[in-house]
Amino acid sequence: MDTTEYNRVLVVLILINSLPIGNSAPQGFCNPEQESLGECHSSPAEEKPVCIDINLAYCNDLGYSRTIFPNILGHRSRQEVESGPEYLLLSVIRGLLHGECSPDIRLLGCSVLAPPCKNQPSPTSVKPCRSACEALKKGCGHAFEGIDMAWPYFLDCDRFFASDEEGCHDPLAQLRAKQEVSLSSLSLDKTSTIIQFTYHTNAQMYSVLKRTASKCSHISRTYSLGRSVEGKDLLAIEFSDNPGGHELLEPEVKLVGNMHGNEVLGRQLLIYLAQYLCSEYLLGNQRIQTLVNTTRVHILASMNPDGYDLAVAEVEDSNDPERQEHDNQEGRELNSWTVGRTNAQNLDLNRNFPDLTSILYRNRRINQFRTDHIPIPDSYWFGKIAPETYAVMKWIRSVPFVLSASLHGGELVISYPFDFSRHIHEDRMFSPTPDEQAFKQLARTYADAHASMADNNTERCGASFIRNGGIINGAQWYSFPGGMSDFNYLHTNCLEITVELGCDKFPPEVELYPEWLRNKEALMSFMESVHRGIKGVVKDEEGYGIKGASISVRGIRKDVTTAEDGDYWRLLNSGTYIVTASAKGYSRVSKRIRLPAHLEKPGRVDFLLKKVQVRPVEPDYQLLFPSSSLDTYERFDPYNQFRRNGEPGEPSEPGTGGEPGLDPERQEKPWWWSYFSQAGFSAPTWLLRNV
Ligand SMILES: *[C@@H]1O[C@H](CO)[C@@H](O)[C@H](O)[C@H]1NC(C)=O
Ligand SMILES: *[C@@H]1O[C@H](CO)[C@@H](O)[C@H](O)[C@H]1NC(C)=O
Ligand SMILES: [Zn+2]
Repeated sequence: MDTTEYNRVLVVLILINSLPIGNSAPQGFCNPEQESLGECHSSPAEEKPVCIDINLAYCNDLGYSRTIFPNILGHRSRQEVESGPEYLLLSVIRGLLHGECSPDIRLLGCSVLAPPCKNQPSPTSVKPCRSACEALKKGCGHAFEGIDMAWPYFLDCDRFFASDEEGCHDPLAQLRAKQEVSLSSLSLDKTSTIIQFTYHTNAQMYSVLKRTASKCSHISRTYSLGRSVEGKDLLAIEFSDNPGGHELLEPEVKLVGNMHGNEVLGRQLLIYLAQYLCSEYLLGNQRIQTLVNTTRVHILASMNPDGYDLAVAEVEDSNDPERQEHDNQEGRELNSWTVGRTNAQNLDLNRNFPDLTSILYRNRRINQFRTDHIPIPDSYWFGKIAPETYAVMKWIRSVPFVLSASLHGGELVISYPFDFSRHIHEDRMFSPTPDEQAFKQLARTYADAHASMADNNTERCGASFIRNGGIINGAQWYSFPGGMSDFNYLHTNCLEITVELGCDKFPPEVELYPEWLRNKEALMSFMESVHRGIKGVVKDEEGYGIKGASISVRGIRKDVTTAEDGDYWRLLNSGTYIVTASAKGYSRVSKRIRLPAHLEKPGRVDFLLKKVQVRPVEPDYQLLFPSSSLDTYERFDPYNQFRRNGEPGEPSEPGTGGEPGLDPERQEKPWWWSYFSQAGFSAPTWLLRNV
């Protein structure tokens, strides 16, 4: 090799590769020892394979340290790997699949991008095993389908993998060995769960909930309500002796945490509660078994996972010593910080629901106006609706919930509807619902069972209203429209209270266990209180359940309606009531009932309705309400406004011209596409399905 050629080789090497390969030896000169280490290079144009140290952050745990370039895909250097879409995919796949099939997929991909290098007789790659690829594809294919992503081309088991006979490397062997060790240490005690009283990232939360559901698969499952703006799952976990469906006469309860992303204690308590229900059920705890056997419990630990991430970043930031000094000077008030309260579109989810309370107030003097199942006005759909709100509204409409709690932080009190004041200029006006007595009782149930909420001596968080044993009417505390609890009450049968768990929205980690102890009994008692009042089935003469029949209680101007099979639940305190069942096309039937105090189970009150000739609707009523409200009740996003305004993960860009959602190019791409479309390489269309 003459000098000119030597220089050219050097320049090319510097350009294409800044890795420390061969820098211990002058280029072009190679002693036998270096050659055996693969540190020798002839002209790169010849592409002679070399073994070098793995230097890829996402592939640094493969159980071997040397790899080869070019690799199986033909990448010639570390940079080439790092700037490609395959490596980018491996670096984000854990998040995209929400921890599912992690780290397996990453390890499999790394075995293609950075296969082990075998030096004898000359540097060659050892291909990963086809059997490992096929097993993983079988187990994880659905996870890719779940996010509408194609199985990546470079994990094609036929193309880039080898059979055992050909000699292959099992990329998951090391991982399996590790898992077996941890499994065998776990199997000493199969049932008890060690609850980790720490904060959980979103990925950890998903993984704990999924593991809990699979450990208790006979009484539990997880399901997704939808996705946040940034594409995170709104993952719910359900407990029931028959998970996956509604059972006749079995009431349904929901618990929602972290609606405000910076109010994080409720989220953790609900993650612990899910684990507690599972392990106690398995251990034979009678109380837990009775609850789960007779109730369907749904837990949405985080309604705002995007806001949570922002709040965590803010808290970490504030632990920065420099920042702390500054904050102390400013007298930072933990209570007033709001970073992460809203979702990623800066929408406060607890102001984002349809304001049905105003509609009620406007119409309350009209005699026939129904105060239950008020339809969502069409105008609502033209406003900005968060995907989190949308998903939760669909959820609330699709399950016959009876009772609910939304867990918040920043105060220590239970508030109950209405949250919106009945007088527009009165910010702090007592604004009760027709179910004031039942709501008060429910709020007290939580507050009294909580270790310190009902205690008058407990130091409060600075608000100056008078509390009545730790409970308050929401509007009397402070009035706001568009809240979730008012919506639950006026749109469905569900009674929802708001639990303010304490002054500190983001308590230190050491507080998590004591807080769990303070709230455990309260959460249990609250869920059990769904079995108060009466329940029953409304049937026709042939014995079929009547769906959508009204159950009204004299003196309480709020009806509940029957579910799919004619079953209903009516939360009531003890007392004597006249209860009437009615349905369009049927006779009305009334019953007088007496509910003694301290009833353990709900009273069973069934109704049998006879068919009658339908009377034409009175003309006056028709004038006031052109279409009956039950018909409009079924209307949900009738103009597809929500879809037009952009799906989660695809925020619509203003100024792109035309209606954003109608551009087919944009509409067809899944939410994760933005990860790859701006990364500076040609877009990996191989990730798209059906292309
Ligand atoms: C709950 O249901 C399971 C399954 O039917 C049963 O084995 C268990 O004894 C029940 N527990 C209670 C307390 O009713
Ligand atoms: C707290 O104060 C309220 C109102 O003054 C009172 O009704 C209640 O009984 C008190 N609770 C306790 C536990 O002392
Ligand atoms: Zn809140």
